[in-house]
Amino acid sequence: MPRTEHDLDTVLVTDREHWLEGPPHELFRAIRSSGCPVHWSSRITEYPTEAGFWSVTTADDILTVSRDWETYSSELGGITAVTEGFPLELMRAMFIGMDPPKHDRIKALFQRAFTPRRIADHEDEIRQIVCEVLDRVEGREVIDLVEDVAQPAVSRVIGSFMGIPPEDDAAWAALMNSTLGAGDPDLNPEGVGAVMDKGIPEVFERCMKLVAARREQPTDDLTSVLVHAEVDGQKLEDHEIVMGFFLLVAAGNDSTKATYCSAMHALIEHPDQRDLLLEDPSRIPGAVEEALRMFPAFAHFRRTATRDCVLHGQEIKAGEKVVLWYPSSNRDETRYEDPDRFDVLRNPEHQAFGAGGRHFCLGTALARLELRILIEETLARFPQADLCGPLTWVESPFISQIKTMPVRLRPAGG
Ligand code: HEM
Repeated sequence: MPRTEHDLDTVLVTDREHWLEGPPHELFRAIRSSGCPVHWSSRITEYPTEAGFWSVTTADDILTVSRDWETYSSELGGITAVTEGFPLELMRAMFIGMDPPKHDRIKALFQRAFTPRRIADHEDEIRQIVCEVLDRVEGREVIDLVEDVAQPAVSRVIGSFMGIPPEDDAAWAALMNSTLGAGDPDLNPEGVGAVMDKGIPEVFERCMKLVAARREQPTDDLTSVLVHAEVDGQKLEDHEIVMGFFLLVAAGNDSTKATYCSAMHALIEHPDQRDLLLEDPSRIPGAVEEALRMFPAFAHFRRTATRDCVLHGQEIKAGEKVVLWYPSSNRDETRYEDPDRFDVLRNPEHQAFGAGGRHFCLGTALARLELRILIEETLARFPQADLCGPLTWVESPFISQIKTMPVRLRPAGG
């Protein structure tokens, strides 16, 4: 067993102390190489009433679990390691929290809109959104890349898909940040209880206004798809419409923003890699894949065992939580040479979008297009950038993202 500062018999993977500066890569490396890469955390310190969980840390095991929805359910117990503060009924109203057959029927309603070809039709519109956001930071001294570039760009893109008026983008972004980053004191200063007391009621109130308008007058946005959908001859119930909307806005908002900022951070830290992209921008799609591999925006999703089973020699009992850690599988040394090295020419396969199976990310084509355009336009306009202070990370073992990133963007020769 390698030397490690962690006692793997007692370490608790979700503990706050491990997540203050991004994912605990060293801990995951120790678990992967321990001889038993399916690891038991006996409890969740910050939530004493929550049960412990199994951590799945290798790419092969995550693939096995992701493909076997009958043994590893998304519906039985929720989709995150911690479920306190978010009722199971609401998780199950999102198709990410359903098992087949209902999952497949609802996902199918959206799949046509998210094919690479349909998404490619949005390229000009997305480029225009990104350029307008970059116009606004031109000439400014120090900006926060998260708040001033990433957030407004991704909010407007998903906002336009959902039919959200632009003036509401900031309010939706704040709502998504405080509900997904519920444990972070800056994003959600009022504490986890506020998610159900204030956050979710506001999501319902705002969304139901859009729903009422679509019922009166159908449009071609995705909110209208949810409102008019029929699954097994029945319309979706209001809470299913609202949570379907919530899922799309949350997924569209947070993850792309996170990956863009992590990618830009890596390019600032590794100017040789940035120069490779400046020399030949056709390398940017490969750099996007490398950023997705190294900095997966969701640190985990979770399943619940439906029956007693064995994974990598480890017995798991029916009803136990099984947590899939993508920052770990994406640096699995059996798949990647020198996995901690950021290499824009690697163009890797990875599990940032999941490992296939029923719940594989719906938005891959959109995320890839947005990330490519964001990086292309940022580098074209500001080939140099400096960090102007320390980064902060969202305190969360679920959403893995930079919270603030002060930078100076410099135009060519600047
Ligand atoms: C960098 C960006 C993104 C990353 C890293 C990401 C990652 C993921 C992951 C890990 C899953 C769960 C996979 C599983 O459990 O097997 C997922 C599911 C999902 N993603 Fe994404 N995502 C991104 C962008 C987007 C975008 C832009 C959308 C568009 C609205 C989106 C919509 C969804 C939806 C609806 C699901 C649920 C799919 C299902 O349950 O069948 N994602 N995503």
